[in-house]
Amino acid sequence: MTRERVAVLLSGRGSNLVALAEACARGEVPAEIVLVVSNRPGAPGLDRARERGIPIAAIPGKGVPKEEHERLVAEAIEEAQARWVCLAGYMRLLSPTFVAHFPQRIVNIHPALLPSFPGLDAQRQAWAYGVKVSGCTVHLVDSGCDSGPVVLQRTVPVLDDDTPETLAARILEQEHIAYPAALRMLLTRTWRLEGRRVIFD
Ligand code: GRF
Repeated sequence: MTRERVAVLLSGRGSNLVALAEACARGEVPAEIVLVVSNRPGAPGLDRARERGIPIAAIPGKGVPKEEHERLVAEAIEEAQARWVCLAGYMRLLSPTFVAHFPQRIVNIHPALLPSFPGLDAQRQAWAYGVKVSGCTVHLVDSGCDSGPVVLQRTVPVLDDDTPETLAARILEQEHIAYPAALRMLLTRTWRLEGRRVIFD
């Protein structure tokens, strides 16, 4: 099976990058992470990439016009000949122009059951709302905030004695399963969009 070339975009810790890279290395996902891009030059996720010998590009976003920043990011991805883009804690909204560059080939993971609790601090939002079940969502990316079609979701219980932190840790464990599983499905199965619904044959 040919391995798809994937770029990962991140801004922080990089635990989902590690989960994806390890699943690729184990042969569970027929992909190779050929580039990690961060808008934050000090992101620990860049160290996770370096440790694994994955090429990195730090492309600071601060003080740079959005259009210019995205052009540089898209160029880096194209130079690396990556066809798919996985967002893993990437703290910037992508413009319609950027999204159109990689049609239906940009994926994101969000730490809540969308469409509930989009945006920042989703685990705390869910905890504060008092839901009894939360989880994570892998979705295709459009130019909205966490609004693209859902590929896969995994759930966790919310316990009475949870704090936002214990809930986030329980969700993160599921993220590390969900992201590789969703990418594997997208790369190995035939699928189509029916309205918002991602249908796998
Ligand atoms: C994860 O909770 C992910 O769902 C969200 O940002 C966080 C990134 O964590 N989009 P990490 O950098 O992958 O550890």
